Order: sequence, then structure tokens, then C-alpha cells
Amino acid sequence: MSKTLIAPSILAADFGNLQRDVEMVNNSQADWFHLDVMDGVFVPNISFGMPIIKSIAKHANKTLDAHLMIVDPDRYIKTFSDLGIDYLTVHYEACNHLHRTLQAIKAEGMKAGVALNPHTNVNLLEDTINDIDLVCIMSVNPGFGGQSFIENTYRKVEQLKEMIVRKNASTLIEIDGGVTNKNAKQLAAAGADVLVAGSYVFRSENPTETILDLQNLLA
Ligand code: DX5
Ligand code: ZN
Repeated sequence: MSKTLIAPSILAADFGNLQRDVEMVNNSQADWFHLDVMDGVFVPNISFGMPIIKSIAKHANKTLDAHLMIVDPDRYIKTFSDLGIDYLTVHYEACNHLHRTLQAIKAEGMKAGVALNPHTNVNLLEDTINDIDLVCIMSVNPGFGGQSFIENTYRKVEQLKEMIVRKNASTLIEIDGGVTNKNAKQLAAAGADVLVAGSYVFRSENPTETILDLQNLLA
């Protein structure tokens, strides 16, 4: 089994000390930066947009994983590519022509991700899984950090893993929402490749140590 990656979610960082928190992630055992973009329409909250991502990208030296919780994401694919995003994830529920959107993301040189809300069945990806680099299974309802983990997620991870193996796809499984030391190991065992952690990391006393502890737990 390959190593499970840790992606701290910048949504939970201190925006008044953004550079400090980005450097903390740079110097930690974390693997990726998870960037949550919310438009106040697809989800009932607004987070941050291009100028903030530009500032983060200036200092970040790890993979940039952008999670778009926005309607009609096709409008911004080129913009995110220009900002240096590596993985661009759109919501299944926000795309009328998912296959076309995935091709457009890849045409801009990025890896293409699809996020599923808790109510969206993984079987809906049967016909696109071979075109998807990453599936983000939402383990909370998107829009806010600090919510509690939905237990049904383990079953979804197992179902998706079975599909990926059966279809001989190379898709990564990412889990987003309510990830802590209580569920990380079981998620990895079910087939998760990337764990997003916001509040658990940034609200802890020593975020660098919390990331290290998570890595050790998964080793
Ligand atoms: C929620 C976001 C998550 C969020 C996770 O809509 O997509 O990435 O930052 O935060 P925690 O880990 O606090 O649940
Ligand atoms: Zn997210």
C-alpha cells in the first residue's frame, strides 16, 4: 500500500498570519495544500478567491489541491491553471457536462478531480472514473470547517476503491471533512489516499506535531 498523504486545509488557517501558516505547512511532514474556494451559491458560505490563492502560491512549496465549491466551475479553469494549481477538483453536483469539464481541466495541464457530496452515490462515477485523477469524498456537508465526520464515508470509500480496482483506474481517493486521529487509520485501511485536515491541524496547540502524529499513525 502506498503512503497516505496529508493535505492541511488552509480554510482553517489564521488569515492574518497566512504566510506564517503556509511556511508551517512547508516545513512540516504534510504533503499537499488543500484550498477551499466557496462562492456563497453552491454552498452557503464564501471563503477566498484568486488574490488569496496567488499569495498562498507565492510561498507554498508543495502540491496545490484546489477544491471548488462553486457553480459553473468551467468559467475559471484557465485562471486556476495560471495560478499554479496542480489538482483542480469540481463538484459532481455543479457540473452539467462533467466529462467535458474534466477534459478542459486536463487540457490546461492540471490533474482533474471530482468531489461528491455526502448524498451523492459513488456509482455515478462508473462512466468517468478512468478520466478522473482524484475523487474527493465529502465526509461533511461542504461549506464549513470544523464539522463532525459522517460515518457512512467508510462504506463509500470501500465502494469507490472496488470500482477503481475493477476498472483498472489510477484515481486517488481523497477524504474531506472532520478528519482526525480517530478516523484517519480506518480511512486509510478502507482505501483513502489523501486525507484533508483543517481544524484538527490548525486548531491544535502544535500544528506541526499534529501533522507528524497523523503521519506516524498512518505509517
Ligand atoms: C469543507 C471543506 C473542507 C474543510 C475541512 O467544506 O471542503 O476542506 O476545510 O475542514 P475540517 O477538517 O475542519 O472539517
Ligand atoms: Zn475541501
